[in-house]
Amino acid sequence: MKVTDKVAIVTGGASGIGKGLCSRLLENGAKFVAILDFDPEKGQNTATEFSSKYGTERVKFYHCDVTDESKMKSTFREVYDVYGALDIFANNAGIISNDHRKTIEVNLVIYSIQLHNSEEQILKVRKLHFGGGSCEAPGGEAFLCFRNSGRPVCRSEDLNAPRDNKSFVTKFVRLYFYVDISIYMINVAVINALIIAEKLMTQKKRTEKGVIINTASMAVFKATELTNCSYNASKHGVVGLTRCFKVCRDGFSKDIRCNAVCPALVMTGLYTSGDYMTKELGERIEANRYREISVDMVVDAFMRAIDDEDLNGALLKITTSGVEVDTS
Ligand SMILES: NC(=O)c1ccc[n+]([C@@H]2O[C@H](COP(=O)([O-])OP(=O)(O)OC[C@H]3O[C@@H](n4cnc5c(N)ncnc54)[C@H](O)[C@@H]3O)[C@@H](O)[C@H]2O)c1
Repeated sequence: MKVTDKVAIVTGGASGIGKGLCSRLLENGAKFVAILDFDPEKGQNTATEFSSKYGTERVKFYHCDVTDESKMKSTFREVYDVYGALDIFANNAGIISNDHRKTIEVNLVIYSIQLHNSEEQILKVRKLHFGGGSCEAPGGEAFLCFRNSGRPVCRSEDLNAPRDNKSFVTKFVRLYFYVDISIYMINVAVINALIIAEKLMTQKKRTEKGVIINTASMAVFKATELTNCSYNASKHGVVGLTRCFKVCRDGFSKDIRCNAVCPALVMTGLYTSGDYMTKELGERIEANRYREISVDMVVDAFMRAIDDEDLNGALLKITTSGVEVDTS
């Protein structure tokens, strides 16, 4: 797809990679670029900078937290109604935080899931995914850790307790619920932004396929000492979502292509803007600077994912060696 005269939405567009992408889209003749971000100051500054360079009618900042589903929906709708189309969606906003749940919500879930459901709802979800049967839940404790700041609420010995023990059953239902949550996120919530975009992008018959680009990470392919487990898990989810988009049974339109960029280390606000940075991490980052790539390299990969009509379900892995396209 050629960018000229196209309408684009970029989440996390106020800074870093997203800002770089907005700039390139405008430079390449996009009709309109919507910068969606939850940082009002950075967002407005970026929009003002681009407005003076490319014209006020071609770019606008929308204050929007991607974890707020209804706000996100209304913002997408507003862009579509005013500009009459949505051709490119960059699903890019992301954070890394010591708050594991928040990291997963922003990077993957896109909207908050009510964790304190009634027992009845919990059972319903459990039944849906596990048929209400088997009690084996590999990996369950790992997900429980997310809730209790590293302390599992159900210990391993509980798993061997008699199954008619009521408190055990209750704990186990909760355990299942958390395992379910991880599945639920991937099946339902993660793709919320993508679903909203896909619906609008195909509302009118398309003459050219629309493009969705998700931002994943090289951390998926090579574990790194710079990230934490929830960040890594969330980006695995993004990769899974991208790979399955064109073949899954959700009935997504064949008029949309979906790819992901997977950058190695980029020096942006990702590490410094939240609660994650420590002196020790700063030293590790410094020691890893030989792996650093530029925002421009990532934006080049975005543009390739947009431009190349053959790319669908592809992962564009960006390292100091260049871009490797993985279509496996
Ligand atoms: N920097 C890296 O080393 C690196 C490597 C691989 C992948 N990534 C990914 O690239 C993407 C962009 O990150 P970046 O490196 O440009 O960092 P960044 O912090 O510069 O940009 C992220 C932007 O997302 C916005 N944002 C965060 N939470 C949001 C929310 N809830 N709603 C709306 N906007 C929100 C922030 O305000 C910020 O403007 C992220 O998904 C990140 O995980 C970054």
